[in-house]
Amino acid sequence: MKTVLVLNGPNLNLLGTREPAVYGSQTLADVEVLCAQACAAQGVKLDFRQSNHEGVLIDAIQEAGRAQAAGSLVGVVLNAGAYTHTSVALHDAIKGAGVTLIELHISNVHAREVFRHHSYISPVAKAVMAGFGVKGYALAIAGLLALAE
Ligand code: DQA
Repeated sequence: MKTVLVLNGPNLNLLGTREPAVYGSQTLADVEVLCAQACAAQGVKLDFRQSNHEGVLIDAIQEAGRAQAAGSLVGVVLNAGAYTHTSVALHDAIKGAGVTLIELHISNVHAREVFRHHSYISPVAKAVMAGFGVKGYALAIAGLLALAE
């Protein structure tokens, strides 16, 4: 059974209490359950992680590239949080690892502040999803698997 890595960046550990009008009231633990259900329905394993540290996210992406090359990983769903808008290092990691990656945002970043309109992730992502709330995680997992067919 192959694995899907769902990787969450900075401040996503605060889901549930952080700006609920923007991100909803479900916690990261709730999101993990939702992802586990989506993966079980599709017959894949879930690897669910969160880090507030850029380097830890980069290590995870490099590891994912190796796992995909070895045939054990389908790809990555990445919500890079604010690093989306700042991180050349994450851009380079995704490109360098050669991993299939879906960029995900809970909110519609294009309907928010101008500084959220630019993404360093989009040019190296296979697809981009934003604005579906936390339900977007399940949609992104289904989309990743549809792309892999
Ligand atoms: C986010 C959008 C980002 O702009 C923000 O910095 C986040 C969360 C989202 O899921 O909507 O931390 O990626």
